[in-house]
Amino acid sequence: MKYLKFIVFFITINVSAQQGGMWIPSLLEGMNEEEMTNLGSKLSAKDIYDVNNSSLKDAIGHFNGGCTSEIISDQGLILTNHHCGFGQIQSHSSLENDYLKDGFWAKNLENELPNEGLYIEFIVRIEDVTAQVLANVNDTMKEKEKQSQISKNSNAVEGSTTKEAWQDTKVKSFYNGNQYFLFVTERFEDIRLVGAPPTSIGKFGSDTDNWVFPRHTGDFSMFRIYADENNRPAKYSKDNKPYKPKHFLPISLDGVEEGDFTLVFGFPGTTSEYLPAVAIEHITKEFNPTNIAIREAALKVIDAKMKTSDDVRIKYASKQARIANAWKKWIGENLGIDKSDAVAKRRDFEASFTKALKENNLVDKYGSILPQFDALYKDFAPINIKRRNFIEVFLVTNELMQMTFRAYQMEQAITANPDNLDGAKQRLIGTLNGIHKNYDVTVDRGVFSNVMPFYNKNTDATIYDYTAFTNLDSALQLLDGNATEVLKKLNEDAAYSYAKPMIEEFFNSINAEYINKNEPITALQTKYMTALMEALPNARYFPDANSTLRVTYGQVRGYEPRDAVYYNPVSYLDGAIEKFVPGDYEFDVPKKLIELYEAKDYGQYADKNGKVPVCFLGTNHTTGGNSGSPAIDAHGNLVGLNFDRVWEGTMSDMNYDPEICRNIMVDARYVLFIVDKFAGATRLIDEMKLVHPKKK
Ligand code: ARG
Ligand code: GLU
Repeated sequence: MKYLKFIVFFITINVSAQQGGMWIPSLLEGMNEEEMTNLGSKLSAKDIYDVNNSSLKDAIGHFNGGCTSEIISDQGLILTNHHCGFGQIQSHSSLENDYLKDGFWAKNLENELPNEGLYIEFIVRIEDVTAQVLANVNDTMKEKEKQSQISKNSNAVEGSTTKEAWQDTKVKSFYNGNQYFLFVTERFEDIRLVGAPPTSIGKFGSDTDNWVFPRHTGDFSMFRIYADENNRPAKYSKDNKPYKPKHFLPISLDGVEEGDFTLVFGFPGTTSEYLPAVAIEHITKEFNPTNIAIREAALKVIDAKMKTSDDVRIKYASKQARIANAWKKWIGENLGIDKSDAVAKRRDFEASFTKALKENNLVDKYGSILPQFDALYKDFAPINIKRRNFIEVFLVTNELMQMTFRAYQMEQAITANPDNLDGAKQRLIGTLNGIHKNYDVTVDRGVFSNVMPFYNKNTDATIYDYTAFTNLDSALQLLDGNATEVLKKLNEDAAYSYAKPMIEEFFNSINAEYINKNEPITALQTKYMTALMEALPNARYFPDANSTLRVTYGQVRGYEPRDAVYYNPVSYLDGAIEKFVPGDYEFDVPKKLIELYEAKDYGQYADKNGKVPVCFLGTNHTTGGNSGSPAIDAHGNLVGLNFDRVWEGTMSDMNYDPEICRNIMVDARYVLFIVDKFAGATRLIDEMKLVHPKKK
């Protein structure tokens, strides 16, 4: 494999500034460092990532595997997005203590709320282990053989790494399997909720404003890491103490203006920047539209019920947000790809790749890749859509079908071996409890009637009248008895017998066919990546996001979404007041906030123009998972909190365009203003370190 070539590629490239990219923090020296300096940074590569001394990376935590968070005090205080802590805020909420609606602020350490299952993970160090992972792997091997050798080698690396007893290791693939890195990590499991603004601040604008600018959302919440008496990770215990971090981020009171350097440091989840044109076409023309339609059908029911019932609003808050978020993103992504002519441009690029293959005598080696992609995707498209539609209906939108799906997995486990009975039952009981904690049968039945037609012509909703699954007690009764009894009752259940043939089809044919047809595409993508770097060595390649720690840098910048329209990079509280619709589901503004606005009671948090900034835009290349990532200034201070991208730029997961792709951050001063002036949580302000980097 060609991993050694990366080193060569990295030094031959021109140093232009705004090109996107999510870079590996341990490899910033040289090219990235120089680019950052050109953009205004005063930070060295070692300030950002250092193994022997504390550095910025020690303050950046992977929040529950899906978001990013950062430490902002020497007491382990954590800042992340409101939407990242949403599940926790919801789980502590009830009609009596409606923290979603009213917000929550712990008065003291004792009042901070534990969250079962929530964790934050830090990176101790990163090592290139490509040579070890690819040892004894060669091109004559079959794909399965190759993958099994790679996973054997990865396990050996993970097992033989020197680390402390409380640390973990994992090996991750980069550049589609052309390079491998080892991560030594530290996971904290006693994470308590400290504070959250009301939804009318933390989710202001809701779905209407989601993925758009101008934005006026204070999308933040605060947690705290607790550690054992040795300051090490530990399970929840009331004896645990606030964690003393190796590093925490000071917060700048000086704000940002257009052109200021911004570094976003976090855990981007998934991108696919090196797809062939045929794949982008499949995703945007065939794959996205069917899934958008299914989610839209589900949201029609959920949204309507949430607006008329507080009980449903609290129960379905997280679920609705999850469904709506990707639904809206896919729509924006399709628009962006279409408008920017991304498919045609990708074909032009492929023509230059083909030309480069000829010029470099690489046609024999790589000339068949693009035609192969065309053939493979044509074959793959129908099953990819069918499989995803199943997942959308059975696992994302409809809860009754999800329960039957999990019950089927229990049946499979028991049939394989009756000794599995207890374990399999317990897993299903866990799922049933989880779903019924926030279940409304009318909502779910409506969702069923709306989404099932997208998957199956037989949409008999009367199964809801006869099934045991819609009620927790009767569902649990199904699981009483020995294996034979349980399976008999289960197979007589109306919903189960309705769903079972479809679930069987999913496992036996749909998913099996999907795996078969996806495997050669994955292998070809690996080869394509190798070929790109060999045929076009002067281009700039960053590895696709893979939920590992990355640095992305840029500047504060507005943008022009369409002719004659220009978006300023900074929004102010005045804009939230302009959007204010009293009592509205999305655009209500809390009374206290209006009072502060009218009295101009902004404390030390106003901009030079006397207004309170709310959000700002940057050219940082981000994706899902970067939510909650700190925006860091030229000196290493926190200036903002990443939480979204702009509508025209959501396509950046496949096609980053520096002209219109922008990330959206909450201004750190808005966070401080809300904590201090709105919530009066001054004990939190007191433990932070507020600085004036521009007033030196
Ligand atoms: N679009 C952002 C992200 O992908 C924010 C989502 C939360 N906000 C909302 N209105 N659902 O996570
Ligand atoms: N809101 C996204 C998240 O939860 C980040 C925005 C994006 O996808 O860029 O990670």
